[in-house]
Amino acid sequence: MKILVTGGTGYIGSHTCVELINSGHEVVIVDNLYNSSLDVLDKIETITGVKPKFYKVDILDKEKLEEVFKENKFDAVIHFAGYKAVGESVAIPLTYYENNIAGSINLYQLMKKYEVRNLVFSSSATVYGDDFEVPFKEEYGLGTTTNPYGTTKKMNEMIITDMDKAEPENSSVLLRYFNPIGAHASGLLGEIPNGIPNNLVPYIAQVVAGQRDFLRVWGNDYDTVDGTGVRDYIHVVDLAKAHVKAIEYAASHKGTEVINIGTGKGYSVMQVLKAYEKACGHDIPYQIMERRPGDIAVCYADTAKAEELLGFKAQYDIDEMCEDSYRFTCNLKK
Ligand code: NAD
Ligand code: UFG
Repeated sequence: MKILVTGGTGYIGSHTCVELINSGHEVVIVDNLYNSSLDVLDKIETITGVKPKFYKVDILDKEKLEEVFKENKFDAVIHFAGYKAVGESVAIPLTYYENNIAGSINLYQLMKKYEVRNLVFSSSATVYGDDFEVPFKEEYGLGTTTNPYGTTKKMNEMIITDMDKAEPENSSVLLRYFNPIGAHASGLLGEIPNGIPNNLVPYIAQVVAGQRDFLRVWGNDYDTVDGTGVRDYIHVVDLAKAHVKAIEYAASHKGTEVINIGTGKGYSVMQVLKAYEKACGHDIPYQIMERRPGDIAVCYADTAKAEELLGFKAQYDIDEMCEDSYRFTCNLKK
């Protein structure tokens, strides 16, 4: 298939392009390089032997985006482009709604106009809010989101569902990612956070790289194995492979499917820290702090639907996730 990948030079997008190319698909990337850089294209080429066609286009610029649709006949779209920082979304909500909603609507309108029927959208476990019991199941539906970023994911899910009802030929898969971490085994692709990382593993990586003094562990009084927060971490390469299965599923079905992508297993902050210590071969300094506002105690996926509909099961364990993250971090310093 010829697939438009918005946000394709970003963290999850770049890994997905590698897996799409490895599976024989043709990839065209649209990205405004707000949170990524052009050298990712060379890295994709080094890994796969293929340099994807690239357009530096902002999805908010509908005219320029339309040029991409005029020049290419796409079979499908995987839509990653968007802003993703939870805290920032609270501070500048309109910017988040504009980029993540208005930008997405431009894309969906062009898909309709150019009759591109198959879509995979990057949703998030954040749409469950804290309304439900773990493991989170797709059938729970949408919970109460706690920040504008999460609300943009929920709104996109609603928009796509309505759009597919009105256009019965459409086929969309809404992937609810749990916590993607890790990096490509080559050490070439990974996550480079902008500023102070909000997420656990990028923060640990910066402590290990000597950029931060210690990890701040947000609370150790939750009702969990050791009191620290539990999440379902998934290797970004597993997540990328799930996208290949999802877009192939979309191309052979109709309607809207919501699918969790996680491992189904939860690890606490301290367990992740221990795995990272094993990967880098030394202790990592940390301090226990107050709980972070808005955090939930435990979050992990029910993965039965991904297995049943996509035949997808995550392969990498937490040790491999930390080893690959560490390798990428070491390469950044070179
Ligand atoms: P990322 O920031 O690395 O990638 C997003 C890419 O989109 C970047 O390359 C950025 O430059 C581009 N972009 C942003 N706004 C754009 C615009 N208006 N026009 C064109 N390009 C634009 O983020 P990621 O971690 O790869 O996440 C990809 C998607 O997955 C996002 O939609 C994110 O919300 C979602 N998601 C991420 C996580 C996570 O923990 N990383 C979890 C759940 C969902
Ligand atoms: N944590 C720390 N110290 C840190 C960072 C995180 O102790 O410096 C803890 C958190 O308290 C939490 C766990 O590590 O218990 C994971 O935190 P992250 O910030 O890495 O991930 P979250 O689960 O809070 O958030 C992620 C994404 C969001 C998404 C959410 C729900 O970053 O975009 O999952 O899917 F909305």
